[in-house]
Amino acid sequence: MKLSGNTILITGGGSGIGRGLAEALHQRENHVIIAGRRTDRLREVAKANPGMAWVELNIEDPASISAVATKLTAEYPKLNVLVNNAGIMNIDDVSSAIDEKLLVSTLTTNLMGPIRMTGALIEHLKRQTEATVINTTSVLGFVPLAITAVYSSTKAAMHSYTMSPSVQAQRHACQGARVSARRGCRPTCLAATTNPGQCHLPSLSRRRCEFSEPMPTRCWWRGPSSCGTTLDPTRPRSLLSSMMRSEQNNEVNMETNKEVVLKVLKGAFIERDATVVDRYFSPDYIQHNPVIPNGPRAIANLIPTLKGLSYEIGMVVAEGDLVMVHGRYVGWGPKPLVAVDIFKVKNGKSR
Ligand SMILES: NC(=O)c1ccc[n+]([C@@H]2O[C@H](COP(=O)([O-])OP(=O)(O)OC[C@H]3O[C@@H](n4cnc5c(N)ncnc54)[C@H](OP(=O)(O)O)[C@@H]3O)[C@@H](O)[C@H]2O)c1
Repeated sequence: MKLSGNTILITGGGSGIGRGLAEALHQRENHVIIAGRRTDRLREVAKANPGMAWVELNIEDPASISAVATKLTAEYPKLNVLVNNAGIMNIDDVSSAIDEKLLVSTLTTNLMGPIRMTGALIEHLKRQTEATVINTTSVLGFVPLAITAVYSSTKAAMHSYTMSPSVQAQRHACQGARVSARRGCRPTCLAATTNPGQCHLPSLSRRRCEFSEPMPTRCWWRGPSSCGTTLDPTRPRSLLSSMMRSEQNNEVNMETNKEVVLKVLKGAFIERDATVVDRYFSPDYIQHNPVIPNGPRAIANLIPTLKGLSYEIGMVVAEGDLVMVHGRYVGWGPKPLVAVDIFKVKNGKSR
């Protein structure tokens, strides 16, 4: 997807990730429309970003979805990107009777809502030269968090749902026999479903298809031209492994890597022992959390300041040279925080 010149609807654009996306895309010269229930939040975000538009939407309500789709397609005929981002996450307890209200609202908001919203706009999107649907899922769709079982399952379902239109779009693009090096099987080009010849793509698709390299949207097709219709049997079986390929898969000891990461987390957040940094962090460690400065020294400096923080380790998963840990932080912010920390480990050091 090109990152400017689009008309983009972002559900849940009044806060959090949706707002972040809305503002970033607004700055890149897209026409952004944010949607949600709290009109005061939407109004405030739009006011802070002159030119941004907003619309009231309750994604739980099919009538609201339908009304918004009708309004937007009339008012914004160039609408070509839908970001299904609105979502809710509630703590549940699978060891007791299900809370019916929680179940229905989570499924309706996180799964049925985005499917309905996509369905309401799909014909309009297919008429655009380039169109994209983006669904915000979650790592919890791959590695469920037991205390949010319903939420995690909606994200797994959304991931699955996302795959189907992607493959449909590829199939239609590929069936237009004149697939050229510049016109490949990019799954997000929904226009390809009706107009195979109009899928204007800059580069990469063909090469990726030929070599059957996993791409983020998972272009797994391989065939005599740029794309085929059979799944590549040689592709890694696990979704995680295709998402997180190791540089040196064969040489990695994943159990040792898990131990290293657990020592890091226990040392840093439970024992408050800053020497873990010297023992388990590589000097060229890269920090991807935007609120923590880069490099190992920043972590070493941070550890002694974490007074009042408690940390509970949950599930630990290793894949290639990556280790992911579910943890619960209390005292990091005003509310307890459930996070998945991802580490890359090489030669016994976190990088
Ligand atoms: N934060 C994370 O660590 C994380 C990680 C993975 C995935 N995600 C996913 O990222 C998305 C955004 O989450 P966030 O963390 O940015 O949370 P957030 O700030 O609470 O944002 C959720 C947004 O969804 C909207 N929303 C909720 N129910 C709605 C409804 N019935 N109709 C319309 N809009 C509704 C809310 O707006 P109104 O209340 O105004 O309606 C709100 O703006 C969610 O899909 C979440 O599952 C978050």
